[in-house]
Amino acid sequence: MSRTIQIAIDGPSGAGKSTMARLLAQQLRFVYVDTGAMYRAVGLFAQRAGVEEEEIEAILPMLNEIQIDIQYVDGNQRIFLGGEDVSEAVRTEKSGRYASAVSALPAVRQFLLGLQRRLAENQNVIMDGRDIGTVILPQAQVKIFLTASPEERARRRFAELRQKGQPADYDQVYQDLLERDQRDSRRTAAPLRPAADAVTLDATAYSLEETLERMKQIIGEKTGYAV
Ligand code: DC
Repeated sequence: MSRTIQIAIDGPSGAGKSTMARLLAQQLRFVYVDTGAMYRAVGLFAQRAGVEEEEIEAILPMLNEIQIDIQYVDGNQRIFLGGEDVSEAVRTEKSGRYASAVSALPAVRQFLLGLQRRLAENQNVIMDGRDIGTVILPQAQVKIFLTASPEERARRRFAELRQKGQPADYDQVYQDLLERDQRDSRRTAAPLRPAADAVTLDATAYSLEETLERMKQIIGEKTGYAV
């Protein structure tokens, strides 16, 4: 029986994890699992339920009402909240902040852990998030911690928002990112940190193509897969 291959990509917001993971998954014909979207869906639920960001624990008694499903349409992950496709709705900056807030709650992490592990059970996956190499898939054959300077990450996030036609202010994007970095790395529940056996890749000075090449090299070395 052949074991499935698991590739874990962790790192701070805006380092390019999802862009890289999506491209690599296409080339490898692996399933791409975006775990951030799941936290964003829980965050959206909280937002819609009228929970304040500062009093995020108020979501806890409602956890059993949250129904999250993942489907793949033409190879792309779609996320459903209570049967509604919220894949686009969860991409706003506000949803990102709510996602970061709910993700600090251990009960929310526990709630999503089973779904994330199940997705990696019977298929080759490339999964991105904050704790994939440390908590969700500790046996992953490849673990990459992708990072870049906060300024560079803010610059990229800003450009992406502008391109999508969403209103954005660089200083605000930068401040939000620093706040999110702090919250994601200082929380006690599965804080953002590289797994002991992860390869850290600092992409500050790399182009998208260079980062992709370097990641392919790492994957090739660890799995024997020629990407
Ligand atoms: O990757 P993203 O920006 O879509 O993630 C949104 C938030 O969700 C992020 O600030 C931290 C949290 N998150 C997490 O705690 N663990 C994960 N595996 C993925 C995301």
